[in-house]
Amino acid sequence: MSTFDPKNPGIEIAVRLRLACEAHDTSISSHLDRVSRYACEIGRLMGLDKTRIQELHYATPLHDLGKIGLPQELLSKPGRLTREEMEVIKSHSMIGFRMLDGSPWPIIQCAARIALAHHECWDGSGYPHGLVGENIPLDARIVAVADVYDALLSQRAYKPAWEEDLVIAEMRRMRETKFDPAILDLFLNHLPAMAVAAG
Ligand SMILES: [Fe+2]
Repeated sequence: MSTFDPKNPGIEIAVRLRLACEAHDTSISSHLDRVSRYACEIGRLMGLDKTRIQELHYATPLHDLGKIGLPQELLSKPGRLTREEMEVIKSHSMIGFRMLDGSPWPIIQCAARIALAHHECWDGSGYPHGLVGENIPLDARIVAVADVYDALLSQRAYKPAWEEDLVIAEMRRMRETKFDPAILDLFLNHLPAMAVAAG
């Protein structure tokens, strides 16, 4: 029997799209859980209401949905990528946005904002649009911090897992270039709570 809420179809859509992400990359599930939990914990610390936290919970795992449109061989290629390959990888923001844009359901609208803007940078050096500061949607700024933290701590095809001290130093280095400094400070000041949230 389905446990989906008929009054909130965005939940079912988000859960099924997440399953598509996990079918494309069978190693991604625990990363999606942790990034979602970090994002919700940041949201709670910022005082977002329960509806917004629920949106973050279901929408955050779709931040890389667009990667299902890219070849898995490229995504898991070890070592450095060529400039052309990097441009293909970067296209996942726009591919995911196109899959999610135009929905009437707030969870999917939230997912569209995150998919499009989670690689934007506070100083305007990100992609795809080079948005600056608070022009980057809040939910995407939150997910950027959560996603980079977990990605640096984790092993990837192109990098080993980093020690936490090194991860924190690297994120501090990017405090006013990549990240919203207020969100980064909040996150780094509550790492024990984040560890509990991640389970
Ligand atoms: Fe991404």
